[in-house]
Amino acid sequence: MMSDSRNEEPVVPKDWYEDAFGAFYPVIYAHRTVESAAKEAAFAAAQTQLSSGDTLLDLCCGNGRHLAHLVPRAGRSVGVDYSPPLLRLAHCNAPGALLLRADMRALPFVEYFNVVVNFFTSFGYFTEDRDNRAVLSAMCQVLRPQGRYFLDYLNPVHVETELHPHTTRHLGKYRIEENRWIDRAARRVNKVTQVWLHGDCVAQTTESVRMYSLDEMEAMLVGAGLEIDRIFGDYDGASFFNDRPRMIIIGHRGRHGA
Ligand SMILES: C[S@@+](CC[C@H](N)C(=O)[O-])C[C@H]1O[C@@H](n2cnc3c(N)ncnc32)[C@H](O)[C@@H]1O
Repeated sequence: MMSDSRNEEPVVPKDWYEDAFGAFYPVIYAHRTVESAAKEAAFAAAQTQLSSGDTLLDLCCGNGRHLAHLVPRAGRSVGVDYSPPLLRLAHCNAPGALLLRADMRALPFVEYFNVVVNFFTSFGYFTEDRDNRAVLSAMCQVLRPQGRYFLDYLNPVHVETELHPHTTRHLGKYRIEENRWIDRAARRVNKVTQVWLHGDCVAQTTESVRMYSLDEMEAMLVGAGLEIDRIFGDYDGASFFNDRPRMIIIGHRGRHGA
């Protein structure tokens, strides 16, 4: 049995993302369903003008909840993720997609996709900025010239103001304890989640995301060869502003990309 880490200073492993998206991820994020992804997928499809002539990549597709809605709108659809359990779920949720296990920094495609989407803060995972920049370079590399991208990232100002340091919720037989904190030196938002069953901690995961400002994101995107067309603050199409939860960036591969 693991101890309750509420009053301890947790250590965030550098490679936290290798363990965080395992068998218990679908329990912890049970509310992130295929149904809940419908509006997000529709927004992304409209913003990227996705059509049946397009090849689509969902980078970090997870359980395929967005692909389930995007496959019928695209020509060929591909999902890439690092987590075998989530890819197995994606097979069920999006049977029409080609699914592939790969690291988001090193994608085995060159100028293949018309559209790349990346949902629900699947960016900023790596400790080194150069690794996070490598993800944007990989997105540029896999896009055809003028190909479009959709990047749904957190709004760091909103995270700072709205952070709930501790929450408890119940899901069926499980109690889920979540502890969140901001590491100001590393400029990261971290979360340790414990799943409890009958008084025993049966799973513990750590998540950690670099909090890039909009200026930093713009500089990294342009540096990677990706032009910016529009920025939204939520899935209702609100402008990006401090009180909006998301930083949704839509753009295209620039002339000097890849
Ligand atoms: C927050 S989840 C989002 C999943 C999905 N986009 C969604 O909205 O449900 C982040 C995803 O990134 C994947 N991931 C984490 N590290 C990765 C890496 N290095 N390369 C590729 N995928 C990675 C995880 O397995 C997980 O599916």
